[in-house]
Amino acid sequence: ASAPTVVVAIDGPAGSGKSSVSKQAALKLGYAYLDTGAAYRALAWMLLDRGLDAENPAVVIESLAEFDFTIGTEPEGYFVKVGPDVVTVAIREPWVTSEVRLVARLPEVRAHLTEMFRSIIRNTSKPGIVVEGRDITTVVAPDATARILLTASEEARMGRRSAELVDQSAAVVGEQLRSRDRADSRVVDFMNAADGVTTVDSTELDFDQTVSAVVEVVHLASLRV
Ligand code: DC
Repeated sequence: ASAPTVVVAIDGPAGSGKSSVSKQAALKLGYAYLDTGAAYRALAWMLLDRGLDAENPAVVIESLAEFDFTIGTEPEGYFVKVGPDVVTVAIREPWVTSEVRLVARLPEVRAHLTEMFRSIIRNTSKPGIVVEGRDITTVVAPDATARILLTASEEARMGRRSAELVDQSAAVVGEQLRSRDRADSRVVDFMNAADGVTTVDSTELDFDQTVSAVVEVVHLASLRV
């Protein structure tokens, strides 16, 4: 029998550098990469695209039956599709970001997407997979080989976000980030490390140092199994 897939679970707030760090760590480890936030975003995109009422839980739950989601799990070949539509860029638009919580708050949606993620993890052809989101260490893969909470001070997270969004003021970016974290943490607690989860605080680390810290946690965890 082949060795079991190594699962690396990474949770953390917006602006912690989670996505780019997870992708780079996957590349270094030779693992696949799964961005779970993309699925929540893609579902919100589909509702908006079809003109469906995302505020109505029954409508959202019904739409799961036609949610045809595909995601690239090669760290260097990342893409997101809904049916035939490539939505890799569209799901990052502010009009999608502001609607995601309407779908992410529903337990039926979370259960459906969690099953989808587990099936992607099971079908990984690589020796491991890095899975990032908000509830990976606690709900999606609580038995992962390595479980990491990637954090950074609010100031550092705001700074990184402002650098990405050059045409917005720091005050606006800060308020958006705070309000997203507040709404998101009402659904799942990703600000505090669950039992057995290793915290990597990137406040004082640059990108490469953060990636190395994550890879180090994975190596140490792999030695234990
Ligand atoms: O990580 P992100 O910004 O792409 O996440 C988009 C939204 O989806 C965010 O509002 C939190 C939510 N999300 C979630 O509830 N659970 C996950 N595992 C991943 C994301």
